[in-house]
Amino acid sequence: MSVGTGPTFTDEQAAAADAKASFGDLRPRLETLVARYPERRAAMLPVLWEVQTARGWLTPTSIREIADYLGTPQAHVEGVITFYTMFKDVPVGQDVVMVCKTLSCRLRGAQEVIDALEDRYGIELGGTTSDGRYTIDEAECLGLCDMAPCMLVVDGARHGNLTPESAVQALEGGR
Ligand code: FES
Repeated sequence: MSVGTGPTFTDEQAAAADAKASFGDLRPRLETLVARYPERRAAMLPVLWEVQTARGWLTPTSIREIADYLGTPQAHVEGVITFYTMFKDVPVGQDVVMVCKTLSCRLRGAQEVIDALEDRYGIELGGTTSDGRYTIDEAECLGLCDMAPCMLVVDGARHGNLTPESAVQALEGGR
């Protein structure tokens, strides 16, 4: 699967993700988040994150429900998802690995790290391993520039001062 080649999911995959948590079940937690902001739309990022965490990725139904919930056009929600690399509108692996490609990391070998991960797992950036364990993607600055090049396993560990070898080892150690 490649994120860059258009939607690559089935209705069954979307339905399975939606079935992990109904929007009604999520609503109490979302209400807590929205209450922290002066207007509903301002809670877009935490609401997206909450729904993505519950369902694994942001399905078409999720996007529609979030737009309705926040009282904002669906196109606006889609634009935010597209802008922020941590939001996924296609199925992802159990762990999402974000490799920083911003300047400090790029100058210190981020591309070599990405090449090594692509070679090891036989996927392109944005792809998911055949066992569904990892999605490997790029990210803008992760705020770990003093550890460049670095990567973040979403909801997991931060890895810095990477070499191509240590990046592969870091993921193999987590298997
Ligand atoms: S440039 Fe990579 S973490 Fe900041």
